[in-house]
Amino acid sequence: ISLKKYNTFGIEEVAQHFIEITEATQLLDAYESGIFEKDFLTLGGGSNILFTQPYAGYIIKINIKGIKANQVQQEIFLTASAGEIWNDLVWFCVNNNYNGLENMALIPGTVGASPVQNIGAYGTELMDIFYSCVAFDTLEGVFRIFYNEDCQFSYRDSIFKSEQKGRYIITEVTYKLHTSPSINSSYGAISTELEKRKITNPTIRDIAEVVSFIRVEKLPDPSTVGNAGSFFKNPIVSAEQFKKIKTLFPEMISYDMPDGRIKLAAGWLIEQCNWKGKVIGQAGVWKNQALVLINIQSATGNEIFELSSEIINDVYQKFNVKLEREVNIF
Ligand code: EPU
Repeated sequence: ISLKKYNTFGIEEVAQHFIEITEATQLLDAYESGIFEKDFLTLGGGSNILFTQPYAGYIIKINIKGIKANQVQQEIFLTASAGEIWNDLVWFCVNNNYNGLENMALIPGTVGASPVQNIGAYGTELMDIFYSCVAFDTLEGVFRIFYNEDCQFSYRDSIFKSEQKGRYIITEVTYKLHTSPSINSSYGAISTELEKRKITNPTIRDIAEVVSFIRVEKLPDPSTVGNAGSFFKNPIVSAEQFKKIKTLFPEMISYDMPDGRIKLAAGWLIEQCNWKGKVIGQAGVWKNQALVLINIQSATGNEIFELSSEIINDVYQKFNVKLEREVNIF
């Protein structure tokens, strides 16, 4: 089966076997038939993956649907099945006045993928509103509940991406949201856009609209230009290392972390190495945001991967900072 329409990079790669899961109980059947003893790969929206070779194992595409809300006083426990489209869920919440997801409007991908890399944007991270998830343990054949503190969330990371990578298949996620607004408009790009629009008391709908607007301006639409969002993580360096680099590059963009370390803007570092908008063969760096690599039309996964290696090398040469890939390489 061709994987082209199952990855937002639009890479033409093939897999031997493909199983679509529309009910969580199908995972028990798959377990009984021994599929999880072979090679398998769980796929949601395919928006954070780069295929670099044909796959001989099983692609498990999660397409379980359903949303239910449970209100407890001012709080909403919103449970969504893993196959729901993330952005649809955001707008479902905006329309119902459930507060908490609006800063993450228009992030591509599915609900099931949202905890895996602790998605985040414009001042909010999934871990801020994640309550629990149900995941199928492919080693032991049982469903387990993970609460927020079980997930080992950190910047673009969780237990599902690191320590237990590949083991669990998330079937549903519960978010803890609110009915009273707690607007977060502190992110520079949001407050600037709100000012432009002369909005002083934004609603969650305003935030979702502004965030969507900013994303459309900056990020390529995967339905027309293959990409997987930020290809790299923003690197986090010690205060000491930061000082050294800042002396050489006083205009460098950075954010203080609660633990005293400093997060650098990878897009800025890459742009300084003159990669923004550059194209090599079929692989390119997006013209409006250097953190995003794109498939011009018919790139192979390896072309994209090699471009990313060149970028990592150049940034390391210039800044002595090692960029890490955020996208899963397969
Ligand atoms: N910048 C440049 N040149 C560039 C890109 C960015 O100088 O080519 C500068 C910007 O001017 C800005 C700073 O770098 O001062 C940060 O840029 P931006 O606000 O666009 O955010 P980012 O740090 O590049 C992160 C996330 C995005 C998320 C935005 C907004 C990561 C890896 N990326 O990007 O997430 O949308 O913040 O919160 O943390 C994703 O993960 O796929 C993703 C798109």
